[in-house]
Amino acid sequence: MRILVTGKNGQLGRSIHKLINADTKIDNNQSSNDFIFVGREELDLSSESSISHYFDRSNKFDVIINCAAYTAVDKAEKEQELVNQVNHLAVKQLANIANEQKAKLVHVSTDYVFDGTGGKPYKETDKTNPINVYGKTKLAGEKALQEIMPTDAIIIRTSWLYSEFGNNFVKTMLNLGKERDELNVVSDQIGSPTYATDLAETILKIIDNKNYQDKEQSTEIYHYSNEGEIGWYDFAKEIFKLAKIDCKVCPITTEQYPTPAKRPKSTLMDKGKIVEKFSIKTPYWKETLCSCINNIENKI
Ligand SMILES: NC(=O)c1ccc[n+]([C@@H]2O[C@H](COP(=O)([O-])OP(=O)(O)OC[C@H]3O[C@@H](n4cnc5c(N)ncnc54)[C@H](OP(=O)(O)O)[C@@H]3O)[C@@H](O)[C@H]2O)c1
Repeated sequence: MRILVTGKNGQLGRSIHKLINADTKIDNNQSSNDFIFVGREELDLSSESSISHYFDRSNKFDVIINCAAYTAVDKAEKEQELVNQVNHLAVKQLANIANEQKAKLVHVSTDYVFDGTGGKPYKETDKTNPINVYGKTKLAGEKALQEIMPTDAIIIRTSWLYSEFGNNFVKTMLNLGKERDELNVVSDQIGSPTYATDLAETILKIIDNKNYQDKEQSTEIYHYSNEGEIGWYDFAKEIFKLAKIDCKVCPITTEQYPTPAKRPKSTLMDKGKIVEKFSIKTPYWKETLCSCINNIENKI
């Protein structure tokens, strides 16, 4: 299969790349799939003409994995037009292109499509109600995709993504914890962290799955995160414990830490559907946090 991966410099794009590289080394550089990774230099999702231009000049793809997105949740409040273009209109255009090419589309979305007041883990069918611009544009992207591609696409909603790459909570805590003796961290937002390598593995497993490769299967939404639930405060404490960093963490409320974009309070997601359909593993968050911290500290 010829597989296009967008967002090559992002956390998820780089995690997919890391796994493909590791696999091809094991298989002596023989891979049955041909992966093409692109960043905004090759395929700029903020420009309709850049998207058309890229696909006009490329050979057809069998699968498009869209890891690119506008992810700066606070900045998004001020750049609504750009965020809408990247997270909504570009997804619509990618869906049209996937249809024309008879390609499958794997699109990644977010727990921020929910308002966080559900009181129990969200199922894929639960009512969405995003409370910030980022969440609204991601939901608009999901809806456009579903309308244009009633078959042959999947949307994977994930949460609290972190990795060895780019900017994320784990890396920020490791850096701040080494500089400071004490840190305030919000304790009343609950979710499930997701190691990007686990999500990357999940995506690769799905596209290799016979069920997925059959054509004209209905487009579905799936939830994927690591197992377990935690708040940012406890997450920070565990990061310091695993990394043996001596920094005191003080719990604060969301009200004490105002941000331009509102954050949902609890966005736990029910992963039963993806686990059952594709026999996916959802490792407990602490297990894979440990691997990620080891990789960061040992610069792997
Ligand atoms: N991060 C999270 O906590 C989180 C939580 C839930 C869901 N998600 C979703 O998971 C997916 C992967 O997230 P991630 O954490 O890997 O994101 P990320 O690290 O921020 O990477 C996103 C990538 O998108 C690229 N991008 C942004 N604007 C672009 C444009 N105009 N044209 C082309 N590429 C553009 C960025 O390029 P540059 O590197 O050039 O800036 C970046 O490489 C996204 O769909 C995101 O919405 C993330």
